[in-house]
Amino acid sequence: MYHDDEQKGLNKQIVINFSHVVAENTPKGLAAQKFAEIVNQKSDGKVKIEVYSNGVLYSDDEELAALRRNDVQMIAPSISKLSDLSPTWQLFDLPFIFDDYSEAKQVFTGKIGQDLLSTLQEKNIKGLALWSNGFKQMTSNTKPLLYPADFQGQTFRIMPSEVIKKQFELLGAKPQAVSFNKVYQSLERQEFDGQENTISNIYSKRLYELQKYMTISNHGYLGYAVLMDEKYWDSLPEDVKQLLSDAMVETTNWIWTQSKMMNDEQLQQIKNKSGMRVYYLNDLQKAEWKKQFNSLYQSFENNATKQTLDIIQQIKN
Ligand code: LMR
Repeated sequence: MYHDDEQKGLNKQIVINFSHVVAENTPKGLAAQKFAEIVNQKSDGKVKIEVYSNGVLYSDDEELAALRRNDVQMIAPSISKLSDLSPTWQLFDLPFIFDDYSEAKQVFTGKIGQDLLSTLQEKNIKGLALWSNGFKQMTSNTKPLLYPADFQGQTFRIMPSEVIKKQFELLGAKPQAVSFNKVYQSLERQEFDGQENTISNIYSKRLYELQKYMTISNHGYLGYAVLMDEKYWDSLPEDVKQLLSDAMVETTNWIWTQSKMMNDEQLQQIKNKSGMRVYYLNDLQKAEWKKQFNSLYQSFENNATKQTLDIIQQIKN
């Protein structure tokens, strides 16, 4: 909520509504709650973060507009959903851009991440932090996905992202963007053969009930940008900004450790409680997938994001 000048310093409570689309028992869901607890405690209740999970307020295709209208004050969309704001974000949808969590962490919490967050200012958005969920895996209800040929003709739900769309097209599949809120329902209605997501989202949204096969491919990385509207941020008293920034640092450190553990633990749960067949992509199969993606990497060779791509490659070497 906006609070006018006369409220400042008069100990009026500031309420910040934080909307997100995933379940509570996910890295993002728990981090949002943790952030709320830290802020509520450190401000002695003067700043209250109200968390709305599961897209109860807004779906992922509505939340950025809601933030700009000040209907909510904080969101944390997946980075893939920011590609419209700046093409550099698209880089992070490149398949196999990161080999492990520590590479992703180094990029997102280091200079590249900071620079990217500050570019959002041009769009009147305050980028507070980059959070982690984890690596995406492939699922299908039609057949196991081990070689590129297995994807041929299958339909997949994707997030709205040109790079993810290309990734599936290069595998011979037919991708279609659908909002996260509708994934369970559309798989239930058999509108798609499969989808890609983190273990945490597959587990917490019970997608394993509707998909017979999962390949642990770790081909894509799902990260989040935690955002506020710049105008709203500017309207906050300095001490509140400081408190929010400190709480964000603490929460961000927490989520980068917690997210891997949650995904590992929930994979075990899926294996224990569902009939889903889990395959692990081997090196040979991975090399076959990578071959298909060559042209996608080449398409970034000449554009404005090439420099960032080079820096990421250096981190890997
Ligand atoms: C998805 O749409 O699959 C994810 O971005 C959802 C999320 O926020 O993790």
